[in-house]
Amino acid sequence: MGSENLAYALTQVVHNFGAAAVLGGAVFALWPLDRLEYGRVFAWLILVAWGAQMASGALFGVTSLYYYGETPDLSHIATAALAVKIAAAISGFVLVGIYLLRGRAWTQAGVRRTFQSLAALATLALTAAAFLRWFS
Ligand code: HEM
Repeated sequence: MGSENLAYALTQVVHNFGAAAVLGGAVFALWPLDRLEYGRVFAWLILVAWGAQMASGALFGVTSLYYYGETPDLSHIATAALAVKIAAAISGFVLVGIYLLRGRAWTQAGVRRTFQSLAALATLALTAAAFLRWFS
């Protein structure tokens, strides 16, 4: 029981800071002042954070499998919320990765749109996260 609680708590620590970084990193690059000259620094933070979200999210499932032999029984709404989060995480990871590979050639407006999209994906994922608590 102790080790199970510790495993969930440590995974949640990574998941919480990852959530803070994907949203905070994108918002802070844009607001209250435009800091897009440091776009690549923010982008690396956001890339690592989306990766951490996927890894820690998967670890929640692995922990359940290890201790109970099955993943949690999710309602339809919670399953949809999880699918939205996974789609947002993959999209955010790919988008910020493309920016890191190709963004040097992009216009300022294109870079701004990229960070706005990253902030929107993080907002979507955080909103969906609340619906994981939907038990039917
Ligand atoms: C592959 C992607 C992801 C997977 C597989 C995943 C999986 C999970 C799981 C299984 C939980 C429930 C943990 C529990 O209470 O037992 C959870 C919670 C949470 N996730 Fe994710 N997640 C992913 C991405 C994200 C992203 C991108 C964000 C935010 C940007 C996020 C934010 C949260 C938050 C805030 C919670 C806590 C919700 C609460 O306790 O009410 N997750 N996630």
